[in-house]
Amino acid sequence: MLDFRFLSPTEIIFGKGTETAAGEECKKYGKKVLFHYGGQSIKKSGLYDAIVASLKAAGLDFVELGGVQPNPRLRLVREGIRLCREEGVDFILAVGGGSVIDSAKAIALGVPYGGDVWDFYIGQAQPGQALPTGAVLTLPATGSEASRASVITDQDSGLKRSVNFEPSRPRFAIMNPELTFTLPPFQTACGVADIMSHAMERYFTAVPHVELTDRLCEAVLKTVINNAPMVLSEPENYDARAEIMWAGTLAHNDLLTTGRVSDFASHMIEHELSAFNDVAHGAGLAIVFPAWMRYVYKHDVARFVRFAAEVWNVEPSYFLPERTALEGIKRLRAFFRSLGLPVSLAEIGVYPEHFEALAKNTRRFKGGKVGNFVKLDTDDIIEILRLAQ
Ligand code: NZQ
Ligand code: ZN
Repeated sequence: MLDFRFLSPTEIIFGKGTETAAGEECKKYGKKVLFHYGGQSIKKSGLYDAIVASLKAAGLDFVELGGVQPNPRLRLVREGIRLCREEGVDFILAVGGGSVIDSAKAIALGVPYGGDVWDFYIGQAQPGQALPTGAVLTLPATGSEASRASVITDQDSGLKRSVNFEPSRPRFAIMNPELTFTLPPFQTACGVADIMSHAMERYFTAVPHVELTDRLCEAVLKTVINNAPMVLSEPENYDARAEIMWAGTLAHNDLLTTGRVSDFASHMIEHELSAFNDVAHGAGLAIVFPAWMRYVYKHDVARFVRFAAEVWNVEPSYFLPERTALEGIKRLRAFFRSLGLPVSLAEIGVYPEHFEALAKNTRRFKGGKVGNFVKLDTDDIIEILRLAQ
């Protein structure tokens, strides 16, 4: 196990009706709030009205900015920065999924910065400070409610890029599983694939003797695998929704990274797919992750045997360990398919003629190779895309 420091300070406020506390929570950190949200989902569900009522009841002054799109856009981030400066906003409340939270984090980085916020995303500047943020989560998936990451798409350059900054972790995350009852099956499934991918990005490590975090990763994976079919067949099953919601936070608040090195190559490849054709992040991961596994499993067959046996209950074969490893990967892919997700690039309109540009973009601004479990160059990424065809 490697040495580590771990601080994941987001206060989790979990359970029924917790969104009514939003105003009082914001008041602990700011005087003037930007209420940031996405499209129509929070208006249809009544959450919009509940948040406005809570902010008013807390006596807070606020302005609002809706319209965050999935794969959130730099353009709206810049608009949010201007609005916050004009209005003297000192706290940002994100109400929605990962896209809204990431957009809020980007605005929070941009307000105190003299240059263009995109500088941070393309590695031309390091953030020094950020406005505080809070989140009311409506989609368990990205873990952004407690993560240090923000992922933004610049449509002009066609790039989707992330920045990691510790102070970007929201001060609080309000998580009421009931707010996820309205999720369409496809978004629920995308969330499941993303949560599982966050655990798997950490699980596949070259660091030995990390038994506790191996088991924590497996616990997150097995919990999500058990509960995903339940929420798809019974969208209002509170307990199943709650299990998935909490798993989503634990998968990406860095607890599972303690003492080990994570990989994240599949995420980097997927971000290029989202930038290229706006595919939902979880759907892109359902395509890329099994292909990445097939490309790298020989690097550490024993780890893939463990994955197959512990997570997918495959009976391990002592004499044919590769067969066991491949069976685990096959079951992962079949599981994603059973959730209604795409599992091949052709299904989302990505073809071999796109592979080279996608692979090159994955490495742009990265300097070196991509990933850690196996370090990938452009040709490796092209091979993975071929396996994902
Ligand atoms: O815009 P509205 O109308 O709210 O609809 C949204 C959106 O269309 C809808 N939705 C959200 N909650 C709902 C709901 N519909 C009905 N009922 C609800 N309760 O779902 C759609 C997708 O929302 P979005 O926020 O885009 O999804 P997600 O949470 O999966 O976020 C994806 C983004 O986060 C990034 C991804 O790359 C992608 O850009 N990620 C962020 C990470 C982080 N900050 O740590 C890590 C991840 O690996 C990921 O890269
Ligand atoms: Zn993800």
